Amino acid sequence: MKTWLECCRCKKRYATRREDTSCTACGHLLEVQRDVESVGVSRDEFTARQSKSGVWRFKEVVHPDLKEGQIVTFFEGNTPLYESGPVSDFAGAKILLKHEGRNPTGSFKDRGMTVGVSEAVRRKAKAVICASTGNTSASLAAYAARAGLPCVVLLPEGKISYGKLAQAISHGARVVQVQGNFDKALALVRELAKSEGYYVLNSVNPWRLEGQKTIIWEALMQNGWKVPDFIVAPGGNLGNTSAFGKALLEAKRMGWIDRLPRLVVVQAERSAPLHATWKQKSDELLRVADPETVATAIRIGEPVNWAKALKYIERTNGLVESVTDQELLDAKAHIDASGIGCEPASATSVAGVRKLVRAGVIKPHDSVMCVLTGHGLKDAETTMAYHQGTLEGIKPTHANKPVVVRATLTDLKRALS
Ligand code: F0G
Repeated sequence: MKTWLECCRCKKRYATRREDTSCTACGHLLEVQRDVESVGVSRDEFTARQSKSGVWRFKEVVHPDLKEGQIVTFFEGNTPLYESGPVSDFAGAKILLKHEGRNPTGSFKDRGMTVGVSEAVRRKAKAVICASTGNTSASLAAYAARAGLPCVVLLPEGKISYGKLAQAISHGARVVQVQGNFDKALALVRELAKSEGYYVLNSVNPWRLEGQKTIIWEALMQNGWKVPDFIVAPGGNLGNTSAFGKALLEAKRMGWIDRLPRLVVVQAERSAPLHATWKQKSDELLRVADPETVATAIRIGEPVNWAKALKYIERTNGLVESVTDQELLDAKAHIDASGIGCEPASATSVAGVRKLVRAGVIKPHDSVMCVLTGHGLKDAETTMAYHQGTLEGIKPTHANKPVVVRATLTDLKRALS
């Protein structure tokens, strides 16, 4: 099966060995493309495979050219698809939750990283690098350590959760905190990589997104290949949205599904450049110069994958929504209280569904799949601050405030009465 790189906008083709991830003709990002119709493995064969990795189960349609010895894996994927009465009641529609926080480093990034770092090994890269709001760096640091590759990560100073920072540091990455936001850090990474020869593992890397496609295929497989009406995910740098759209179109081309769900991406209101661009039908990205949100994972104003993401939203008749910090934290409180739990950015998906149900776009009888992108322990500071009522401008509407008592039975009984 032949594989090539192709511009997501003008369709110009390049060889897969190419280092530069942008098109020389129009500047947009490249995607891996292949003749998936000729893969020669059926949906049922993929389903029947016993695989320790939910990504490598689909090797033929992820990265068939890698040799076994080049694959760097922590057995990512195989994450649960949960039903949840309380979360569905909160949102007003029947929701299935695909919990990508149950991956080895606690986020969906591991699906892309196993492919991206394996590709780095195949290319004999000397060192890998990324900019990150936290999860990408945690994942890259872990996979680079497994591959024995030096790793550099650039993080926006003071704007990532402690747990994610601790992951990158403890897995041995060279951690550089940049006095600027994620967009600035990513621009620096791309510049530095050009002159210093680092292999970039942000979502500009087309191989990484090939791994992230498997979230959708695995979820559909777990759902007996029944296609939901809507698939909803948070949007930051929009790599995931792009990978989801590509996964859906490829699944249709391969005959795994016979119709497309509507792809919905939900951004945080003050970090919502795609929402503005989509609403105003702009041909250029309406960037946000100073993005803000309590969901630091998606505090991004210039998502590099915006054009790709828009293409797939159009192709699936999808839509873009935005939610306030209050709305996403209230949704998170419900997801957490159901016992499932997720990090703040992940909850935008459920908050978005609730908003779209109230607007009459999603009907109560529609089937909806929401992707929870990160683990509940990823951002304990924000969770605690919500429940203790110390987040500025946020009403702790569903708070479960812990109490302190003197160590006597009387005091304990009074506290519990
Ligand atoms: N949810 C979480 C928990 C994330 O960490 C991210 C992105 C997203 C959603 C958005 O996904 O960028 O593909 O649209 N985090 C990146 C990072 C930017 O550096 O960890 P996206």
